[in-house]
Amino acid sequence: MCGIIGILGKSDVTDQLVAGLRRLEYRGYDSAGVCTIVDGAFQRRRAEGKLDNLAKKLALDPLPGRIGIAHTRWATHGAPTEDNAHPHIVGDVTLVHNGIIENFKELRDELSAEGRTFASQTDTEVVAHLVARELERGKSPIESVKAVLPRLHGAFALAMMFKGHDNMLVGARLGAPLVVGIGEGENYLGSDALALAPMTQKIAYLEEGDWVVLSREKIDIFDRENAPVTREVTLSGVSGAMIDKGNHRHFMQKEIFEQPVVVAQTLQAYLKPLEGKVALPIPEFDLAEVKRVTIVACGTSYYAGLVAKYWFEKFARVPVDIDVASEFRYREPVLEAGGLALFISQSGETADTLAALRHCRAEGQKIAVVVNVPTSSMAREADLLLPTNAGPEIGVASTKAFTCQLAVLAAFAANLARAKGKMTAEEERDIVQHLAEAPAALNAALAHDEEIEKMAPLVAGARDVLYLGRGPDYPMALEGALKLKEISYIHAEGYAAGEMKHGPIALIDDSVPVIVIAPSGPLFEKTVSNMQEVAARGGRIVLISDAAGIAKAGDGAIATIEMPDCHPLIQPLVYAVPVQLLAYHVAVAKGTDVDQPRNLAKSVTVE
Ligand code: M6R
Repeated sequence: MCGIIGILGKSDVTDQLVAGLRRLEYRGYDSAGVCTIVDGAFQRRRAEGKLDNLAKKLALDPLPGRIGIAHTRWATHGAPTEDNAHPHIVGDVTLVHNGIIENFKELRDELSAEGRTFASQTDTEVVAHLVARELERGKSPIESVKAVLPRLHGAFALAMMFKGHDNMLVGARLGAPLVVGIGEGENYLGSDALALAPMTQKIAYLEEGDWVVLSREKIDIFDRENAPVTREVTLSGVSGAMIDKGNHRHFMQKEIFEQPVVVAQTLQAYLKPLEGKVALPIPEFDLAEVKRVTIVACGTSYYAGLVAKYWFEKFARVPVDIDVASEFRYREPVLEAGGLALFISQSGETADTLAALRHCRAEGQKIAVVVNVPTSSMAREADLLLPTNAGPEIGVASTKAFTCQLAVLAAFAANLARAKGKMTAEEERDIVQHLAEAPAALNAALAHDEEIEKMAPLVAGARDVLYLGRGPDYPMALEGALKLKEISYIHAEGYAAGEMKHGPIALIDDSVPVIVIAPSGPLFEKTVSNMQEVAARGGRIVLISDAAGIAKAGDGAIATIEMPDCHPLIQPLVYAVPVQLLAYHVAVAKGTDVDQPRNLAKSVTVE
C-alpha cells in the first residue's frame, strides 16, 4: 500500500505535493517520488528511503510546474529502490499507483512479447505501458484510460498525467481508496482527505470502479460502466494543522500518554454515568435478535477482538466467532442470515478487513464497525458505526487506538447483554462505574514509565522474548509480543500460559525473558503455576501484576511492574500500558526507528 496525491494548481505545486506526502507517510515510507509537467514535458525526482531523502533532492534540484503527482511507497513488487519508486513514466503518460495489479505477470508477458522493455520490477509500470500503448495507437488520454481499466485485476488507486496536457489529471479506483478534493480554481486527488486537508476540506469519495477526469475548472466522474455519475461532496472536517509530537520524543510515546484522555473522550459517547447506563451512538439499532457475533480484524485490532470475545460471551452469553481477516473469507465461514458481523480497525482501510466486511455484506450480515478514522471506507460502509475517538494515530505501532477499541467493545458487550436480557440494571450500573474508572487507572499505570524505562536493558539484549497470560490476558500477551516485535525487531511470542507445557517450554533457558501478565483474580493462581514451571527451567521472569499479585508471586522475578488495583473489566486497558511502554523503551534502547519501523506501514491497503 502506498500514498498518492495529485494537484492541478494555480502556481508551483511541488511543495504542496511533498507536504501531502508527509501526511500520507503512514501508508508507506520506503521510497518516494514526484513528477510535474514543465513546458509540456515531464520532470521527475525520486529517492529511495524516507521522504526526507526526496526533500533533500528537491532542495538541490527544485521542480517547478503547476500540475503534479506524487507517491510514497510501501513495496509490493520489486525492492524499495529508486528505479521502482513512482511516478513511472512510459512514453506520454506518467502515473502513481496504490494497490496490487494481480494479473500483472500476464500483462507484462503480453507487453514484453511486443518488444516493450521495463525500467522497474513493479506491477505499476505495466499499467503505464498499457496506457502508453493505447496513446501510441492514436487514442486520446481519456479513451486510453477507458480501454485499460477493464484489463486490470486486483486493487488499485491511480493518478495519471499526460505529456502536453497541463490541465488534466485522471484518477481511478477499485479496491483502494481515492478521493477528489475541490478547490478554488484548483482541484486535487489523494489517497485520503488528510493528505488534502491544508488545501481543501471539500471532498468527494470515489466509489468502487469509479474513474475521474479533473481540470482546474471542473471534475467529471464516471462509474465502471463509463456512465457519468455524481458523488456527494462532503466537508471532511480533518484538521489542516500538521500533527506534531508535542514535547514527546516519538509519536508512539505521545500516543501512549494520551490514553487516559482519549479513552475518556471515547467513553463519553457510550456511557450515561448519571443514569448508570450504556448507550449506543445509534440507539435505534436493535441488538435483541443477535444470536451470534462474527468478529474480524487484523493485528492489534484483532487482539482487541479476542478480548471482546471473552466479554460478549461472559456478559451477553452470545457465541462469538473470531478470525484474522486474511483467513476469514478463504475458510468459507458459515454465516447465518441476519447475523451480526463486527469489524475492528484503526484506519478503516485495511484491505483484508474491508474485503471481509464486503463478503459479510454480500452474505446478508448486519455490519458493525469499530473504527478510529470516521471518514474511512469501513466507517462509510457500516450499518452500526462505533467510533473510537482516539484522534489521529501516527506511530505505526497501535497504542491509543487499541485501548479505545477495548473501551468501545466493553460498552458494546454491556449493550448486547442488556438487549439480550442477560444483565440487570444493577450489573449495568456496576459496569458503567468501572468503565468510568478506566482513565484514572490508565493514569496510574503511566506513572510507572520511568521504572519501565530502567528495566528496558533487561530485555533489549535478548534474542527471544515470551509473553504469557490467561483468559483476557492471553490476547494481551499476544499484543505485548506484537508491540515488541514490530518496533524493536526482537523475536517475541505470546502464549496462553497453560499452553507453554505443551511445547514452547522447550525454548526456555536463562537467556529468555518471560513477561507474565497476571493481575489478581480467578486465574491468577493457575498463571503463577505456569510461571513457576518457566522459572524452574531458568526463564527470567518479569511479572506484571497488582500489589497483591506481586506480594504473592514476585519473589524470584528479575523485575516486577505494579499496576493499580482495578476491576477485571478494565484490566486489559490498564495492562496494555506496561506492555506498550516496555516495547517502546526497549526500541529506544536499541535505537530503532520507533514511529516508522522497517518493512511496515501504518495502514495496510493490500491483501
Ligand atoms: O488499521 P487497522 O487497525 O485495521 O490495522 C490493523 C493492523 O495492521 C495493525 O493493528 C498493526 O498490526 C499495527 N501495526 C500493530 O501495532
